[in-house]
Parts: sequence; structure tokens; C-alpha cells
Amino acid sequence: MRASCLPIAAALLMLGCTTAPVPPQRATGFAGPLRATTLELPADEEMFPEGPAGDLLNANCLACHSVSMVTTQPVLTGKQWQANVEKMRSVFKAPIDPADDAELVRALVALNADAGTR
Ligand code: HEC
Repeated sequence: MRASCLPIAAALLMLGCTTAPVPPQRATGFAGPLRATTLELPADEEMFPEGPAGDLLNANCLACHSVSMVTTQPVLTGKQWQANVEKMRSVFKAPIDPADDAELVRALVALNADAGTR
């Protein structure tokens, strides 16, 4: 746009701002006072079991999904859990320190074996 057009463009813009205010919208289909209600959510453990292994899992695995994503898996071997941790890191970009892998896999195998007998 040429510089000489700028004042005209600015005036047009300002015109747009002086239109009458939009009337408040009426709520339609709302029948009656607001009421508090109770919502039943499916039961799920919120955290991994207490202790150093649980703390490590809480810190590394709960940012993106719940405990049950781990505890509802079939019984997996250490090698399979290692592959799972690597997948979380490489595919889903989980910020898991590779130095924690061995400890994580130990914790997962123990938890997973335990879950399988529940
Ligand atoms: C950065 C996010 C993120 C973190 C952190 C994370 N995951 Fe995941 N995980 C995902 C996503 C996304 C999926 C796929 C969810 C889906 O398919 O609905 C998934 C799926 C899974 C599954 C199901 C099987 C599969 O491979 O899809 C398991 C088991 C699992 N994660 C375990 C873990 C464990 C154990 C940790 C911690 C060591 C962890 N995740 C940390 C994002 C994450």
C-alpha cells in the first residue's frame, strides 16, 4: 500500500470501531437454576506404590497417563519393559534419563508381576 493511502485506511478502520455495541446474547434452552451434581469417575490408583521404586515411576510415568496404563498390561519381561521405556522416550518424547532405565525396568517387572497375581 502506498503511504498516501494510510490515513484513509486508518479512518476506515476507526469507522469500524464506532458501530453500536452488540446486544447481549440471550441464553436459550436453559431451564432453571444451576445445581451441584456428583460425577462418578472410574476407580484408578492415583500413584504407584510408596517407596523408592514407586517414586521413580511417579516421577517418570505419570506426566502423560495414569498408573493403570502400566498395571493393566499383560505380564511383560524385563526386555519388553526396557523396549517400552525406550518407546516412551523416543516416540512420545518422555524426558526419561537413560541412567534410570535399569531401575525403572526393575520396578516395572516387580509391579507388573504383582499386578498379574491380583
Ligand atoms: C511424554 C509422555 C509419556 C510419558 C512420560 C510416559 N508415557 Fe507411556 N505412553 C505415552 C503415550 C502417548 C502412550 C500411548 C497412549 C495410547 O496409545 O493411548 C503411552 C503408552 C504406554 C503404555 C501402553 C503400551 C504402549 O506401548 O502403547 C505403557 C505400558 C506405558 N505407556 C508405560 C509407560 C511407563 C512405564 C512410563 C514411565 C517409565 C511412561 N509410559 C511414560 C506417553 C508417555
